[in-house]
Amino acid sequence: MTQLRIGLIGASGRGGTLAEHWHKPNGRSVVVAAADISEIGLEQFRNKVNNKALCTTNYQDLLENKDIDAIAICSPDYSHEEYAIAAFKAGKHVFTEKPMAITTQGCDRMLTAWQKSGKEFMVGFNMRYMNIFRVMKDAIDSGAIGEVKTVWVRHFVAPGGKFYYHDWHAQSKNTTSLLLQKASHDIDMIHWLTGQYTKRVVAMGSLDYYGGNKPNDLRCSNCDEKDSCVEYQDINEEHGNNAMDLCAFRQEVDVEDNSIMMMELENGIKASYMQNHFAPDYHRNYTVIGTEGRIENFDDSKKIILKLRDRSKRWQNLAEHSIDVKTKKGSHGGADAVITKDFVEMVLDDKEPIATPLAGRMSVAAGVAASYSIRNNWQAVDIPKLPQSLDL
Ligand SMILES: NC(=O)c1ccc[n+]([C@@H]2O[C@H](COP(=O)([O-])OP(=O)(O)OC[C@H]3O[C@@H](n4cnc5c(N)ncnc54)[C@H](O)[C@@H]3O)[C@@H](O)[C@H]2O)c1
Repeated sequence: MTQLRIGLIGASGRGGTLAEHWHKPNGRSVVVAAADISEIGLEQFRNKVNNKALCTTNYQDLLENKDIDAIAICSPDYSHEEYAIAAFKAGKHVFTEKPMAITTQGCDRMLTAWQKSGKEFMVGFNMRYMNIFRVMKDAIDSGAIGEVKTVWVRHFVAPGGKFYYHDWHAQSKNTTSLLLQKASHDIDMIHWLTGQYTKRVVAMGSLDYYGGNKPNDLRCSNCDEKDSCVEYQDINEEHGNNAMDLCAFRQEVDVEDNSIMMMELENGIKASYMQNHFAPDYHRNYTVIGTEGRIENFDDSKKIILKLRDRSKRWQNLAEHSIDVKTKKGSHGGADAVITKDFVEMVLDDKEPIATPLAGRMSVAAGVAASYSIRNNWQAVDIPKLPQSLDL
């Protein structure tokens, strides 16, 4: 095979962005078909990516099509499990967006179907491809800060109201919680930067700003308070997704908008992750402390500082380095161009991916356990082991 033929499920939003990278008629991959429950999504795909593609509201049409080698699943989180398992059974390679699924058991069923299929499988952990974190990872792996003992991640999600509380993201039945939906990247980054998976978690969190008493069917477009509401959402503004202007203060909203989780990793490293959806700014701040120093990212991911301990006077800074990191052009700091290429090379050239399917499962498992802890009196929760039938 010299050109990978991809069928996309979830044709607009994230799917449309990735499909633009994959659809290269004179290159190594093409997006030949799309499935979506919404005609609007399919129309956007035709306009943005490929107006000659097979477009359908029945994803089975993609699975039955012998002309399609791989399925890219970019529909909402709750659908990933069903689509991935069906795709493996149909003999397709699979790319699925993060989070891998919304339950740990769902991930295990996906891993089982993957192993039986003998096909390739990638989870969309594009943060692993961002320059800022690659530089941090290289520094940590080189031993620059000694043996890692502590990781602190603060996640300020300024567009929380815009992206997470006006549609399906805001209900736990669709996501479990935003610790899987949004934080699955960060939990994975903690695992990747340290080389260790989470063993046990404890977490606190609540819904303090969004949610409330407004009717579940209230939309911004027909709300009496639209001129004064700070969370007013104009659906034409970006996504074109017809469900993105539900009121952020409606009754059915039940996912925490601020949470704190603490993780014990396999080798005893302690990590914490804090997420807030009504912060005024958008930033991910990673601080990693080892026996010889600490590394931290600043300035909206354009700068890293590395401080080293003085071995004679250990409370003093021996050296401080500031590293400016170039951000590439393109979505997610250029990461989407690289992860889509990696998927094609994984299938066509047998290239090892940076993130394994197991990493997808372990990030979900930590997020699920933390959600359970939040909702059950902040009790400590052990991460379930992989089923013995899985050989990973
Ligand atoms: N890796 C990243 O940086 C990143 C960024 C954004 C979103 N995502 C992930 O991508 C996925 C999609 O997110 P989004 O914001 O594009 O969502 P979205 O709500 O915009 O939906 C994307 C498309 O899927 C369609 N769709 C909805 N339900 C469907 C179903 N059951 N079957 C088929 N199609 C369906 C919608 O009509 C839409 O066209 C999510 O899992 C999300 O976590 C990842």
